[in-house]
Amino acid sequence: MTVSTITTHPIAGQKPGTSGLRKKVTVFQQVHYLENFVQAIFDTVPELKGGVLVLGGDGRFHNRVAVQTILKMAAANGVARVLVGQGSFLSTPAASCVIRKYQATGGIILSASHNPGGPDGDFGIKYNIGNGGPAPEKITDAIYARTQTLTEYRISDQADIPLDGKGRHALEAMQVEVIDPVADYAELMQQLFDFDAIRAWFAQGHRMHFDAMSAISGPYAKHIIEGLLGAAPGTVVNGEPLEDFGGHHPDPNPAHATDLIRAMALPDAPELGAASDGDADRNMIVGRNFLVSPSDSLAIMAANATLIPGYKAGISGVARSMPTSRAVDLVAKALDVPCFETPTGWKFFGNLLDAGRATLCGEESYGSGSNHVREKDGVWAVLFWLNLLAVTGKSVNEIVEGHWARFGRHYYSRHDYEALDVGVANALMTHLREQLAGLAGQRLGAYNVALADDFAYDDPVDGSRTTNQGVRVLFENGARVVYRLSGTGTEGATLRVYLELFEADPVRHAVPVQEKLAELVAVARDLAQLNARTGRVDPDVIA
Ligand code: G1P
Ligand code: ZN
Repeated sequence: MTVSTITTHPIAGQKPGTSGLRKKVTVFQQVHYLENFVQAIFDTVPELKGGVLVLGGDGRFHNRVAVQTILKMAAANGVARVLVGQGSFLSTPAASCVIRKYQATGGIILSASHNPGGPDGDFGIKYNIGNGGPAPEKITDAIYARTQTLTEYRISDQADIPLDGKGRHALEAMQVEVIDPVADYAELMQQLFDFDAIRAWFAQGHRMHFDAMSAISGPYAKHIIEGLLGAAPGTVVNGEPLEDFGGHHPDPNPAHATDLIRAMALPDAPELGAASDGDADRNMIVGRNFLVSPSDSLAIMAANATLIPGYKAGISGVARSMPTSRAVDLVAKALDVPCFETPTGWKFFGNLLDAGRATLCGEESYGSGSNHVREKDGVWAVLFWLNLLAVTGKSVNEIVEGHWARFGRHYYSRHDYEALDVGVANALMTHLREQLAGLAGQRLGAYNVALADDFAYDDPVDGSRTTNQGVRVLFENGARVVYRLSGTGTEGATLRVYLELFEADPVRHAVPVQEKLAELVAVARDLAQLNARTGRVDPDVIA
């Protein structure tokens, strides 16, 4: 045995946010920084001793170094077996799939999702539990508390494990199995979707364009879409994961996936365009010159679920994060299934999925998924749309416009104000919260306030209560404004303002989104005293 116990000290600020601990790479490179957090995981989850751990990440800068450190710490902490993705790779949904399939005790996923990478970019780590989903707050709070008290960590002195090829290795008494990061996930996708129908659709000459944004979805999309489904080579672009994502934000939204938006506006654009983020759990769906809003995508998936083999028996319920538009609520009503409104962050869907109360879930932030894993899943969403196109013979536009004609359209947009001074952003939220009690019944511009509150969630499965999840203002005509501060940023504070307007009349479904929302935007900015407090007028990102 060459296990050392290293003396360390608590490190301030290791509090996991919306999806794990996320900081600049330079912060993670500090002495003991990663080790402290990882030891806190092992101390908080004693079942890992003698258990099975899944390990991998999105391939960003520092991923390989961190994986080696975690392997050595896992060995020193008595983990029996680790399944690690070849090359240190595992997309977030694939990690969830592997945890579930091999009934692992848990998993450690290394990613900062859609945040930029590279030596000056971001890095992140999160712990997922045995159901394959992000650890609930009870566990993340305990991990954080442990980071504030521990005084030592354990690590093996053994040499690095070769991770570039599949195989088995011993590290102290621990077995390390280097697995194909794509195989288990691809197998699961074949159980859910009609691969024959999609293959036939491509064989008829239909085309798609998948922008992997130089991130981890590339190997998955290439293997499944170009390989198993026979799409033309070159369908997947930017398909090689790069440590710095080519210097870009690997974030599939109109602000960052500009190449895809441009490609889909060309006269000879393919039928379907799609992109995924750094760790492949987000998705953006684009038709010819036509962007599908993520909230609409979720509603459309729910309305058409029975066309997909994996969901042909129907769905038990749907769940959406509070800021996500209420389009899916109307579908749930029509299907007579429950619709749950949860706080932002995928971890809140876990209990509902485990209990069989929801089958499909989604967030406005380009995330959707189902009970097949316990993370949102970018490539899954793209396959869902491919399957829909293949079996309906319709275009993306036809599917979306048909949906609006039936259910009405929820005009929707999110305006982000980034890198605000933390004090200023907190004061703005406090100011909003202080006004809540008196808002109902007031007229703001053309809108009458019906209800205003600070969203709180009572988990119907475990009874836990989560408070302070964002200020929402609901208007009598079905419009809504939501304000919340991001929990994933690493620089200052980001204010997110979510805007939504319902339009039942199909004659008025073709208005440009920002034009339709302009008046509501003005109301939202006034109410928050946005300009006076932040000095800003226009948001940094409009999604
Ligand atoms: C953002 C999104 C949220 C998503 C999270 C992780 O969190 O808004 O929906 O679950 O990223 O992908 P936020 O920065 O708003 O806390
Ligand atoms: Zn992500």
